[in-house]
Amino acid sequence: MQVWEMKSIYYGQNLQTLIQNSNLLMIKLKNLITIVLLLSFAAVQSQTGQTITYREQHRPQIHFSPKEKWMNDPNGMVYFKGNYHLFFQYHPGSSVWGPMHWGHAISTDLTHWEEQPIALYPDSIGTIFSGSAIVDLENTSGFGKDGKVPLVAIFTQHDTIGAKAGTNNYQTQSIAYSIDDGRTWTKFANNPVIKNPGIEDFRDPKVLWYDEEKKWVMALATKDRITFYSSKNLKEWTRESEFGDTVGAHGGVWECPDLFSITHQGEKIWVLLVSINPGGPNQGSATQYFTGKFDGKNFTPFQTDTRWIDYGTDNYAGVTWSNTGSRKVFLGWMSNWQYATHVPTEKWRSAMTIPRDLGLEKVGEKYLVTSNPVPELKSITQKSVVIKKISSKIYDLTKKIGKISGPASLSISLNQISSFMITLSNDMGEKVMIGYDKDANQYYIDRTQSGKVSFERGFASKSTAPRLSDKNRMDLTLIIDDASVELFADGGLSVMTAIFFPNTSFTNLDLQSADKVKVTPIKYEKFKSIWK
Ligand code: FRU
Repeated sequence: MQVWEMKSIYYGQNLQTLIQNSNLLMIKLKNLITIVLLLSFAAVQSQTGQTITYREQHRPQIHFSPKEKWMNDPNGMVYFKGNYHLFFQYHPGSSVWGPMHWGHAISTDLTHWEEQPIALYPDSIGTIFSGSAIVDLENTSGFGKDGKVPLVAIFTQHDTIGAKAGTNNYQTQSIAYSIDDGRTWTKFANNPVIKNPGIEDFRDPKVLWYDEEKKWVMALATKDRITFYSSKNLKEWTRESEFGDTVGAHGGVWECPDLFSITHQGEKIWVLLVSINPGGPNQGSATQYFTGKFDGKNFTPFQTDTRWIDYGTDNYAGVTWSNTGSRKVFLGWMSNWQYATHVPTEKWRSAMTIPRDLGLEKVGEKYLVTSNPVPELKSITQKSVVIKKISSKIYDLTKKIGKISGPASLSISLNQISSFMITLSNDMGEKVMIGYDKDANQYYIDRTQSGKVSFERGFASKSTAPRLSDKNRMDLTLIIDDASVELFADGGLSVMTAIFFPNTSFTNLDLQSADKVKVTPIKYEKFKSIWK
């Protein structure tokens, strides 16, 4: 039933009766409250006529997921005129991967999202793979009209027929522009702007403005390397250099790069994100990063070791928003190619991670990238409980805060290094264990007993992340949603994300530690759903 139908039935039929009898009035008032409540969780109709309630089993309540059908990588993330645009790899025809389009959603606060019409459709050059978008403030492209600033999207086109025929040049780079603030897009007439030189995996352009030389720079994933290009007008591109030969993880193809700088104590440090599939630290896909120097042509890394932006199983293809000034906000696809097409949600598939602020911290001689949930999340806090001090080995948090229905965050601080474990569980005995193992010096998320796990052989896994901080105290924040947990430890130095699918939602929370450890304090925040 449509929302407007429910409304007219109520107002049309029952209004006279309400005034006839006061007892009846009370009953009707109760009904009214129920209906108002129902309406506030109102269902919406999808493009294909499905009813979307955002209350379906396993539907994330504080993470963006599409109303329906298949989604993978975040694309074209650009901030403009108060709007955070999130485009994404989208297959409107099915809940598994297929001919790619760019779906679109907008947020003004990085928390609530409104899905928009599809932004880019496949054409004769190919389907629309991942890429980026920028604000062309100086109208270098010439796409701007009547003083309107153009947004330009730069993306890969994938020629499905060429790929099937076994050619090696079926991925090319194209552009499109918008002069209505990102609402509608027009493809450039002379696409593609970069032809394929004969490299099978040749994709996912991320473009940034390199102010020192007043030019655009593109990082492009080319097999298991990153190739840099530059351009003055976004239409003609020159190849500059290639990176990655002798450093980093190479267990799979490199995808979805991102290059940006972060100023740390007055020093400009460049960060290069590179997703890799497979070859992640806990199987399947994951995103590694490099810190180093960039001179407009070449990226020179400081490091020889391999580092991961998130050690968990479920954060892939993440990049940062462009046009956010010195703030770098990151978002990833909260899934893994190893099982993304099999996860037990049929109406839609996949969600994005919580947006994260990226920073740098120097540990010893190393510059390490930190990730922390954006503070905008505070706007959905419904209730907050602070427990000042605990000194016991097992602590049943549920006793203190009640059953934890719905999304929440949990932050704890320990004034010593000690093993501990937080268990999220339901009354069926299904659980996810999240903690720190002092002997191994590792954080972990164990979803081996988390409910529905049999859809893929490797899903029932325990993933680990090294503790990277050299401090003598620990802190940890968990962002908990219906089907995921994100762990941010030691100021965001060790990060893990994992999805799960319990048969009934997790409602219990307890904390155990090996020693009689002092936890000071614990903060639990209950979040409101972002879906109205
Ligand atoms: C990464 C990726 C990209 C590609 C897109 C296709 O997840 O494989 O390299 O552009 O997905 O959907």
